[in-house]
Amino acid sequence: MENRITKEEYFAFAKESKERRVAWFREARFGMFIHYGLFSSHGMGEWAQVWEDIKISDYEKLASAFCPKEGCADEWCRLAKEAGAKYAVLTTRHHEGFSLWDSKVNPFNSVNYGPHRDIVREFVDACRKYGLKIGLYSSLMDWRHPDAWKCMTDEGARERFTAYVEALNVELLSNYGKIDILWYDMPWPRMSSKNWDSVNRNYRLRQLQPDILINNRSRMAEDFFTPEDAINAEDGADWEACMTFNGISWGYVDEEQITPYSYSANQIVKMIRKCTGAGGNLLLNIGPKADGSVPAEAIEPLKRVGAWLAENGEAAYGLKKRVGGYCGGNNVTECTAGTDDKTVYAWNYIWPKTGELVFGGYRNAPKRITLLSTGEEIAFRHEGHRLIMTGLAERSPDRHMGIAVLKMEFDEPVSYKYGSYYPQVSEGEDFSEGLGN
Ligand code: GLC
Repeated sequence: MENRITKEEYFAFAKESKERRVAWFREARFGMFIHYGLFSSHGMGEWAQVWEDIKISDYEKLASAFCPKEGCADEWCRLAKEAGAKYAVLTTRHHEGFSLWDSKVNPFNSVNYGPHRDIVREFVDACRKYGLKIGLYSSLMDWRHPDAWKCMTDEGARERFTAYVEALNVELLSNYGKIDILWYDMPWPRMSSKNWDSVNRNYRLRQLQPDILINNRSRMAEDFFTPEDAINAEDGADWEACMTFNGISWGYVDEEQITPYSYSANQIVKMIRKCTGAGGNLLLNIGPKADGSVPAEAIEPLKRVGAWLAENGEAAYGLKKRVGGYCGGNNVTECTAGTDDKTVYAWNYIWPKTGELVFGGYRNAPKRITLLSTGEEIAFRHEGHRLIMTGLAERSPDRHMGIAVLKMEFDEPVSYKYGSYYPQVSEGEDFSEGLGN
């Protein structure tokens, strides 16, 4: 395809529309990742084909037996919506090379084999039905493609495979209406954007979808970073941390076959706080079972998260300031804050028995403190740097998971300085009116 530009030109071109394209993403905060493919039937994780050295001719048998139940994509998206997620990302083709759509360039797909259905179409329709933004995951690896491994040493293979990958993505971005995210993965074994031709491929793909966001896994920074299995903020950049529900595998594994360990609703809400508070999103993965149903252990916590977000979403969604540490103390309470710094949301994890909750370090007082879920006013006084909330119930007022959010509204930007106990850490700071006041 003739249509080539330099990296500099491409970045300038992408930058021009970035603010417009990324606006929804910066407010979304929470998305659902769905790893579904033939590996879901094998049940040993999405990398089993490689780790177990399964012959391609044997692995292929999974394709004929692949039988997603009717309506599974609707089930994923309904749950995502109920959980309070604003977008969903589906593995349209993982490294195993099985396309979940009616591909003309990859005959190894779900229309020619197994269910004879276009699962990507079903997913896209379900996202639209539930008002979710749509993300399509697209691997840059293909374990069954003869050229994929040869790319590093064989120029012909490199060119063929690069063209193949582009053709797959052209299908995904041409045949399903507006797509919001192209989520690349696995650029290995090619080590640079140059030998992937990412500049020009992405340039051409963007012309098919002018509003699309592209992640950083085609060996280029692109629109957002994707820390994996860890919530690490990227300074001054957009990012999304992907985490997987059972903490082990992205594809389905039977919970009883692993040390039972899945994130609880409480842990998920804390992860959302951590992402929102540091300027990122949480993309939480579920690995549906062979028949596409959601594993039971994910359903209850996700519904609980959704019920919590329905009452407390104001603290999580939307544009927020990247907060430093301010609040009531790491384990007791962590914060998110409005961009003007005049609204602070204190997410409380340890509720006091005494009827009094105290936050140190507040140099100015809010005009009002309310319980976000109900709007109920909370009595408080401001003494020195201490905010002392009084008359509280003995137990956390949050019935979902014990994370109550206190909304503090200030007339002026909040002035917070924790650590009157540590005046030496901030040279030049005046702590004379500090502790003990
Ligand atoms: C990795 C893995 C993969 C998983 C992904 C999720 O790169 O190869 O199996 O899909 O990360 O972020």
